[in-house]
Amino acid sequence: MSIAEILDTMEYGPAPESDKEARAWIKGLGGETKLFIGGAWKKAKSGESFETMSPSNGEVLTRLAQANAADIDAAVKAASKAQPAWAALPGHVRARYLYAIARLVQRHSRLFAVVETLDNGKPIRETRDIDIPLVARHFYHHAGWAQLMDGELADKEPLGVCGQIIPWNFPLLMLAWKIAPAIALGNTVVLKPAEYTSLTALLFAEICQKAGLPEGVVNIVTGDGATGEAIVNHPGVAKIAFTGSTEVGRRIREATAGSGKSLTLELGGKSPFIVFDDADLDAAVEGVVDAIWFNQGQVCCAGSRLLVQESVQERFIAKLVSRMETLRVGDPLDKAIDIGAIVHPVQLARIRELVDVGVKEGAILHQPKAGVPAKGCFYPPTLLTGVHPAATVSRVEIFGPVLVATTFRTPAEAIELANNTEYGLAASIWSETLSLALDIAPKLKCGVVWVNGTNMFDAGVGFGGYKESGYGREGGREGLAAYCKPKWLAKAKPIAVLPTVEANGDVVSTGFVDRTAKLYVGGKQARPDGGYSRPVVSPSGALVGEVGEGNRKDIRNAVEAARKATGWATTAEHSRAQILYYIAENLDARSGEFADRLAAMTGRRKQDTAREVAASVSRLFAYGAWADKFEGAVHKPPLRGVALAMNEPLGILGIACPEEHGLLGFVSTFAPAIAMGNRVVVVPSSRQALAATDFYQVLETSDVPDGVVNIVTGDRDALALELAKHEEVDGIWYFGGREAAARIEKASTGNLKQVWAETVQRDWYDARQGEGREILSRAVQVKNIWVPYGE
Ligand code: NAI
Repeated sequence: MSIAEILDTMEYGPAPESDKEARAWIKGLGGETKLFIGGAWKKAKSGESFETMSPSNGEVLTRLAQANAADIDAAVKAASKAQPAWAALPGHVRARYLYAIARLVQRHSRLFAVVETLDNGKPIRETRDIDIPLVARHFYHHAGWAQLMDGELADKEPLGVCGQIIPWNFPLLMLAWKIAPAIALGNTVVLKPAEYTSLTALLFAEICQKAGLPEGVVNIVTGDGATGEAIVNHPGVAKIAFTGSTEVGRRIREATAGSGKSLTLELGGKSPFIVFDDADLDAAVEGVVDAIWFNQGQVCCAGSRLLVQESVQERFIAKLVSRMETLRVGDPLDKAIDIGAIVHPVQLARIRELVDVGVKEGAILHQPKAGVPAKGCFYPPTLLTGVHPAATVSRVEIFGPVLVATTFRTPAEAIELANNTEYGLAASIWSETLSLALDIAPKLKCGVVWVNGTNMFDAGVGFGGYKESGYGREGGREGLAAYCKPKWLAKAKPIAVLPTVEANGDVVSTGFVDRTAKLYVGGKQARPDGGYSRPVVSPSGALVGEVGEGNRKDIRNAVEAARKATGWATTAEHSRAQILYYIAENLDARSGEFADRLAAMTGRRKQDTAREVAASVSRLFAYGAWADKFEGAVHKPPLRGVALAMNEPLGILGIACPEEHGLLGFVSTFAPAIAMGNRVVVVPSSRQALAATDFYQVLETSDVPDGVVNIVTGDRDALALELAKHEEVDGIWYFGGREAAARIEKASTGNLKQVWAETVQRDWYDARQGEGREILSRAVQVKNIWVPYGE
């Protein structure tokens, strides 16, 4: 046999990783695990447990404790007890604990990697080279933030106890994404790993003990969805961070509505992988391997929809099909294996079912000839071609090694197909023409874009979705926002819901009484659909004026007008700033009238209301200034390239203004929103609505494009609820009572819009509370665009 022949036929031999240490560690768990609460190992109060198995061969590894509500209560109490002292430690001391954890993870990295592979079924190559090194990187990176918190986040403090619920696809990595930033900033945590894959979380608890982490800072509780629910519903928890299915994410949004708990959701995806005809096709084929066959495709941001330009489609698919033949499926502990086991038979059944549906709906199935091992939970790398964009497999997250392929002709068509999904997690763009790729990147509605790359992650780069892929970011400076709050909030009083004042028949003469203010929709004054108006009265009940009584139809019209004003998001920041300055000047020119109106509506002295007008003018100037200065960042991960963290508008924002400070509250909320490129539907204060309706003329004379600012007067809470239900509204800001906030949060689950419901009083006069970065950050979502840069 010639060397050439040998090389031709040479198969990889098996290269098994030893599981001796891992099995010894599992054996040491004693057949049934305990819960890690308050720094000690506790038996589950329920006395219940369930099996966890190795998906590659079905072997039961051990039994896991099923924590119940009483266990969760104990864990939350331990975390609450530990939190003040942990937060009070100097940042550099907390940092040292995180460094210690990072080092210990590195020192035990092989044990972690093997346990993870046994428990989850993912190839040892991945746990060893990707998952575990990234875990250590997360703790190192966030140790740095603990150190820097006092200076860099001087006006922030931790949230308290964070409830964290994670999935099974990256068990230890998701734990690190959640725990590292939380404890770095002085929070304590109760974390629940997924029921299929809890073992590395328990090993991590041992690491915390070894690092001497104060007891109660990290608590690990195992169990199923019911255990997760107990965490979500516990009143002692200040924040829920969840990664998992969109369905459960929705349920958690509903369950936490009105609780005041902050919430970040990292949910599913159906991310496009776009190949242009000028791409390096061989590199793009390798990209597909990493996009959809990495971790058996069980990746929330997996490039699961291949969009390939028609002119190269045949060549590309041929290359891909032949590459699929070389992928090795089998024992995940074999170092030469590319694709391991699917996490659980339930997940395998789901994948099979969806692929069957795809084939029934007309897709052509491509799978390698070699097949998969007969025993164990395996599924081959799969490609479905000729898939219609409306087919089930194009829309539904399969969460398996299944790629669906469609073609496109033009870049515009690629963008349309890419965005044609309710998800918005990630996208990959492949083209050798950087100007093309960077023209497409801002047009994709998703939180992460990789240019000529895919599935790259780093602790220093934000990750998270748009649309129904959730909200909040993990990683990078932007991820810290999820684990801290402004210090002034602690002393803020709840917003009191004031009783309605009935008109008493008196009239305050301001010269406007005979004119009923209309609504402001699409740049025009519009009569309310119902044809009714409502009085605006002084605190004593004297009539000051009338405004339109808006209803659901008016909200729909306003959203439609906002939808049409698409150009605002791409209007240059410089131009948005000019318009805000212009609005400020025009308000200033009419400050006397506004002060009179406010005095009539509130019974306050003119001197006082003149101060409110002056503060409003100043605020408009401030947001003119901010419009081109609230910039993103460039992250430099330890990988080839940089990530451009761009602040992008949410889209259409519904704003229910504070009841108090009819003018300042109105200006302080709509101005930052439009400064960042959002279009708004504003429901002004019901009591002081005339401050907003008088503003129509200011807007009309200030070059604000039609549809950017829409104003619907009426019953504020009822209209805000309509906005919360509307599927085309991307975010809601609500300032008011807790009960209405709860209804709004609950109603937001349809399209999982972001809700900022504030139920405590903010001092709008104080620039630290009433303007600036904290508010601006609510008006944007960060898109991280990874681009090749340097070596
Ligand atoms: P899941 O969303 O049910 O589970 C994720 C975590 O949430 C687990 O720890 C689970 O115990 C917990 N959980 C379940 N119900 C809960 C509740 N009512 N309250 C609080 N916590 C709860 O995901 P599952 O069932 O494991 O997978 C189903 C599908 O979800 C997958 O096929 C995939 O499409 C998607 N998925 C997406 C992930 C992502 O990273 N985006 C991760 C895992 C699954």
